[in-house]
Amino acid sequence: MRRALLFGVALLAPALPAEARVTAAPGARVFRLDGNGVTYALGVDDKGYLRPIHWGGPLADGDPLVPPIVIEPSSFDPQPTVTAQEFPGQGEGLVTEPGVKVAFADGNRDLVLKYRSHRVDGETLTVELADIARPLFVTLRYTMDPYTGVLARSATIRNGGKRPVRVDQLAAAVFTLPSGDDYRLSYLTGRHAAEWTLKEVSVTPALTAIESRRGLTGHGNNPWFAIGRAGRTAEESGPVWFGAFAWSGSFRISVAQDVVGRVRVAAGYNPYDFAWALKPGETLDTPVVYAGYSDHGMGGASRSFHAFQLTHILPDHARGRLRPVLYNSWEATAFDVTEAGQMALADKAAAIGAERFVVDDGWFGARDSDRAGLGDWTVNPRKFPHGLKPLIDKVKALGMDFGLWVEPESVNPDSDLYRQHPDWVIAFPGRPRTEARNQLVLNLARADVRTHVLGWLDRLVSENDIAFLKWDVNRRWTEPGWAGKSPGDQQRLYVDYVRNLYAVLDELRRRHPALEIEGCAGGGGRVDLGMMARVDQVWTSDNTDPSDRLAIQDGFTHAYAPAVMMAWVTDSPNWANTRVTSLDYRFLSAMQGGLGIGANLLKWQAEDVVTARKWVAAYKTIRSTIQRGQLYRLVSPDASASTSATMYVAPDQRQAVLFQMLHSSMWRDNPGAILPLGLAAERRYSVRMLGGGALPAGVPAVASGAWWMTQGLRSPLKGDFVGAAFVFEATP
Ligand code: DGJ
Repeated sequence: MRRALLFGVALLAPALPAEARVTAAPGARVFRLDGNGVTYALGVDDKGYLRPIHWGGPLADGDPLVPPIVIEPSSFDPQPTVTAQEFPGQGEGLVTEPGVKVAFADGNRDLVLKYRSHRVDGETLTVELADIARPLFVTLRYTMDPYTGVLARSATIRNGGKRPVRVDQLAAAVFTLPSGDDYRLSYLTGRHAAEWTLKEVSVTPALTAIESRRGLTGHGNNPWFAIGRAGRTAEESGPVWFGAFAWSGSFRISVAQDVVGRVRVAAGYNPYDFAWALKPGETLDTPVVYAGYSDHGMGGASRSFHAFQLTHILPDHARGRLRPVLYNSWEATAFDVTEAGQMALADKAAAIGAERFVVDDGWFGARDSDRAGLGDWTVNPRKFPHGLKPLIDKVKALGMDFGLWVEPESVNPDSDLYRQHPDWVIAFPGRPRTEARNQLVLNLARADVRTHVLGWLDRLVSENDIAFLKWDVNRRWTEPGWAGKSPGDQQRLYVDYVRNLYAVLDELRRRHPALEIEGCAGGGGRVDLGMMARVDQVWTSDNTDPSDRLAIQDGFTHAYAPAVMMAWVTDSPNWANTRVTSLDYRFLSAMQGGLGIGANLLKWQAEDVVTARKWVAAYKTIRSTIQRGQLYRLVSPDASASTSATMYVAPDQRQAVLFQMLHSSMWRDNPGAILPLGLAAERRYSVRMLGGGALPAGVPAVASGAWWMTQGLRSPLKGDFVGAAFVFEATP
């Protein structure tokens, strides 16, 4: 028998440009959200199940909203398996990933969720589901951004019963894509100093889990996905469904084809080691998963997501301010921090045009190496006999603002803090604890630890003229125990820790609205939309080799905006791989995000200072385009291509910058032309070389956008590890 799912036809409001519409048909219980060429639709069937209907390009006003074709269930694949639910409970023999899985106090583990009610508040749709027999409720929230079509989804589970319910698994959202054997999943993976590698795999019935089990986001898998279709999706064309989970702890995004070939994506808390005893009357919220769709390939998807991040995710303060050029002393001095040494570096940093001076690790406690001192956040009197004030005054007199490195969530066992509070660390009492980088993780889930951390950070920022904190964390969790917590609530650690991390960051920002923060975790080990909502920029990777960085930055920008992606010019040979590169090349690589300098300036020759001053000044003329513009990955720096090229186009298309980087030369010449994208076809653009210098032979000084985008730029580059940047300016 063919199951008929009865849907009403939505009554649609008239088209309103740049406004998201949430439409609920009276009585029909069909909902659609429309924004910027994206439609998302769901509805309730005749049995009361909430079904996904559509996620993708825009449907026309008045289109019938019908569910996907349903095949007849067999005894091996009953109804919940062949008929997709919008947010299935684990029950009735479901074999795809559930939205939620629970165990009731009597051992019953069957959960069947059906529609109960809904509400529309402006651009937000809320749908409440309830179990068919027991008072367990799930609330789903949907908000679509009118300018990008990015949908925010989250869920809340509520125990309306009289006994606790154990929540074993909880997603923020489950998504359904139409059937197909040609889906390809892209994700970002890596390790310390090798983050942001883009991988692509086929979507098959074998489940792929993009996950962290580490307690923090981790370098391993970033909570981001993009799904395209083989043969149809390319960098600038074809459909892409994408999303990111805004959470800085353990997470899982699972992707698989179901039994009838539909693609199911579930994003939420990682069920690995997860359990939450939901008390009577208690609720548990998920973080938000943000998901979008583009018809313009991976490039269109990332441009849409970058725009969304700049307008909806970044803190207000960061939205309004371009990233200053910073100097950071870590690679120059490591732990050997002294007042005189930092003052000497500050002189040099100011001379090349840095706007912010940051003292990294080593300024506090007994921190002469990574073996001691973490946790003791008082200025080391040997290194700074008069406190930080003389250095800060000097930095400010030089025209820069002052920043300081902190690692609030960690402690060395060799520290006064640990000696006073050995019970404050994450560990299983009586069991060995893994020390990584000689440190342990403070249990920030505890209220007293949270109060302590906020207290010293607040004092540090209040008592010193500090404009910027680099907030680092340098290890993952290993033995995730919460000493003193009841056995049933132990695993609340995974949620409460991250919530308290956010609470500290939020409160610190509230008390110090001008303070800027950089998120860092041994490089890019905790970059996600949860952190991005609370920091102004992120440290992309400890790998500062300018060539490796091109690949790292390319991967990063698939998910996140270049506006937050910090990149430093450091010394050559590079520490990570001993590669030798020119200072020009290092600057051209680093200025494709937020520019920083991390070299030992005391060892620079006079000509290095002149070169650096030139590039820093040049960066300031294009910074707004890099940090606020649209990014086109013209040629990605994968191992098979010796040339890579990226282009940034200002929102008003009046300025654009094209970076061309040559990994290594082959043959006598390089006949290929790079075709710019994103210029206004009818406008005329002049072109100049960033940093000065003559245009390569044959490149006209002025032409229309259409001319540039069809004729392109012949590569002027020869040699190994060389680069150039062309600046297009619209002529008046
Ligand atoms: C790891 C960071 O990624 C580095 O930039 C530096 O701050 C060190 N920690 C300091 O210990």
